[in-house]
Amino acid sequence: MQTKFIMLGIESSCDETAAAIVCDDKTILANNVASQMDMHAEYGGVVPEVAARAHLDVIDQVINVALEDAGLSIAEIDGVAATGGPGLIGGVLVGTVTAKAIAAARCIPYFAVNHLEGHALSGRLTDEVSFPYLLLLVSGGHTQLLAVHGPGQYERYGTTMDDAAGEAFDKGAKIMGLGYPGGPAIERCARDGDPKAVQLPRPLRGAAHCHFSFSGLKTAFAQRHAQLEGVSNAVADLAASLQAAIADCLADRTKQAMQQFAANYGESTLVIAGGVAANAAIFTQLEREALKAGFRLSVPPGYLCTDNAAMIAWAALERREVPHALDFEPLPRWPLDPDATPPPGQGVRR
Ligand code: KG4
Ligand code: ZN
Repeated sequence: MQTKFIMLGIESSCDETAAAIVCDDKTILANNVASQMDMHAEYGGVVPEVAARAHLDVIDQVINVALEDAGLSIAEIDGVAATGGPGLIGGVLVGTVTAKAIAAARCIPYFAVNHLEGHALSGRLTDEVSFPYLLLLVSGGHTQLLAVHGPGQYERYGTTMDDAAGEAFDKGAKIMGLGYPGGPAIERCARDGDPKAVQLPRPLRGAAHCHFSFSGLKTAFAQRHAQLEGVSNAVADLAASLQAAIADCLADRTKQAMQQFAANYGESTLVIAGGVAANAAIFTQLEREALKAGFRLSVPPGYLCTDNAAMIAWAALERREVPHALDFEPLPRWPLDPDATPPPGQGVRR
């Protein structure tokens, strides 16, 4: 009988310190996430210095709890992976140094995982998704459409020209005083609101390319918010209208990308990954759009959409033939498709 390969994954690139243990047969033995959200909530966003110190304080304990949950000792781990970028460099360093120390002490392979690849391949951990597929990656820092041909093989169709979709949620929530992170807060509030109540723009709707823009939406939202101050049910209506506008933009640009993908490779699967993929209204709208385009929609369960270490362990398992040397240097910027064409009017932004 073939023995399983057991991977320890570590994630620390933003405001979650996470450790997970995943086998190459896709069994998730442990998935432990310690969130720093409360520490950053009072600032309305993640403070890098606070985040790095907090990762350092808890990382050993987070790994120990994951091992306990899995019923394993560190001696039973076959490989160790940590996010090597992109992200807040202080946090990435904490995870990287920890993973390298474990790998060196145990003489097991070390893997530096691109955080974006963690999100990109997460759909394959809980679902049968074969290459190539179209990926809508929507997180706090990134909004991208990519054709995924395999681990390390990405063809970017579009990216944001300014803010990410998650940032639009976070900034909208900040304007309304709903706290951080904004996405879940807006989604909760939107349940009692009318998505058509407040008129908001849909930037780039119908454009022939697959890029996104959310900064004009944010400015318009701030103006409407100021106009509606004190009006009854304004917060719920504003939340519902903002969520609908973001969902419309994502659906419209993804529709364009599905056409482009289908023309090249035929209809396939549309995978949505990243924190914003946890939003039910966005899921519903993209499901409708995917159906129309002849694509199957696959969205990982919520606990794999937001930042977690199971996706990091899994991305390393997908490439376990090629471990990294222990002198790997963390990368604050690490594009999935380094050769991508920048959006119109932009230089090298990825
Ligand atoms: O992937 P993620 O956990 O971290 C990054 O890599 O950025 O994504 C975090 C983002 C935040 O902007 C958060 O507001 C958003 O995902 N988010 C949501 C929801 N849950 C998290 N946005 C909309 N609806 C949600 N339910
Ligand atoms: Zn992420």
